[in-house]
Amino acid sequence: MNFLEERILKDGIVKEGNVLKVDSFLNHQMDIELFDQMGAEFKKRFEGKPINKILTIEASGIGIACVVAQHFHVPVVFAKKSKSINLEGEMYVAQVESFTHKCQNNVIVAQKFLNPEDHVLIIDDFLANGCALQGLIQIVQSAGATVEGIGIAIEKGFQSGGRIIRNLGFQLESLAIVESMDAETGNVVFREQ
Ligand code: G4P
Ligand code: NA
Ligand code: NA
Repeated sequence: MNFLEERILKDGIVKEGNVLKVDSFLNHQMDIELFDQMGAEFKKRFEGKPINKILTIEASGIGIACVVAQHFHVPVVFAKKSKSINLEGEMYVAQVESFTHKCQNNVIVAQKFLNPEDHVLIIDDFLANGCALQGLIQIVQSAGATVEGIGIAIEKGFQSGGRIIRNLGFQLESLAIVESMDAETGNVVFREQ
């Protein structure tokens, strides 16, 4: 078991509806030492890739992406979410559906921050159905830039996002893949990696 899986077992809380609460260390209160370990691990897993930019999405992706970026010495761009678009200047826009919040969001990045020369590592906290991630991939591709890889903290392996993204041929690295969880017992089972 790796450091993130251990932390999930220690401090994660399984809620009804297949929701894993990790707000004491990942997406509300944030354990920066843990994020730093995640950065070191992503650096290892994406060794040799010519990554010059990290792309994430607000809100919970930002903190992780910033600490990870210190290991890559590259800037972070975060995509903004908006229900309406008021186009100030040139934007890349992708439409994504939120499984949890049951709504449509526009995911937006200013064109000036993504270029065909960019080699992008996408970072996010959770991967469930992968809608947000597919929106980010679409935005990178709209810019003519290259997706070098995708780094996720926690993948919900029983939802379809991971399989879809891997089938598209992307190097997707999830530090913890939850195979199943049980709200009654609090049990969490991880996929062997
Ligand atoms: P998808 O992009 O993979 O399809 O994600 P989905 O719509 O399923 O999830 C919507 C939001 O809920 C995402 O955050 C995602 O990170 C989060 N999420 C999904 N499953 C879990 C879970 O089991 N536990 C927790 N804590 N979060 C989960 P968001 O609303 O898009 O953004 P943010 O503002 O929270 O970053
Ligand atoms: Na997120
Ligand atoms: Na989230």
